[in-house]
Amino acid sequence: MLVRIENFLTKQEVSNAVELLEQSDWIDGATTAGHLALHAKKNLQLPENSPSARKLGDFILSLIGQSQQILAAGLPNKIYPPMFNCYQENGEFGSHIDNTIRRVSGTAVKVRTDISMTVFFSEPEEYEGGELIIQDTYGEQRIKFAAGDIVMYPSTSLHRVSPVTKGRRLASFFWMQSLVRSAEQRRILYDLDLSIQTLTAENPHNPEIVRLSGVYHNLLRQWSET
Ligand code: NI
Repeated sequence: MLVRIENFLTKQEVSNAVELLEQSDWIDGATTAGHLALHAKKNLQLPENSPSARKLGDFILSLIGQSQQILAAGLPNKIYPPMFNCYQENGEFGSHIDNTIRRVSGTAVKVRTDISMTVFFSEPEEYEGGELIIQDTYGEQRIKFAAGDIVMYPSTSLHRVSPVTKGRRLASFFWMQSLVRSAEQRRILYDLDLSIQTLTAENPHNPEIVRLSGVYHNLLRQWSET
């Protein structure tokens, strides 16, 4: 399941973020690539302990906590601190699957990557290429969303970023460990949640909502781990 959240950041928040990113010191992104992915990664990243990365990252995490859509689709247990990258001058990232377990730098905290997330800071017309290309069950999805949008997709997916042949693509990327490990089970819970919300909006006194909510929570009880 691929979920797009539009206007996760306002345009003002995007331009504040870009301003901060432009003042920051970037390093070669190859330093954090996994062993196998290394050869195919050509971009820039902010160091994980960079003050701007932490400031912007904390801001993104606070917004995630307020996003009903992200909470419903992801059922977050732990979230890896957001990281930041920049693709330009034919920068790209070849096909790969993200590493499964990531230890948060400087801590003992480990995050299993169930859901991969990208926040776009550049408008699609500001660069050429730079599509996030995700293989899913139904074929290839080519993602190039508006600045401020966020995409969530299962970390089990093979994906790549095509070369940025003109302009610059700034983004944040990070991972979520979900309370529910299986993408299929998360999808069922998300669909059920959306139906319950729609029925509630139509008639909050419909007694079937109580039963359906019970089903939702009992499935979550069966499938979740904390
Ligand atoms: Ni990746």
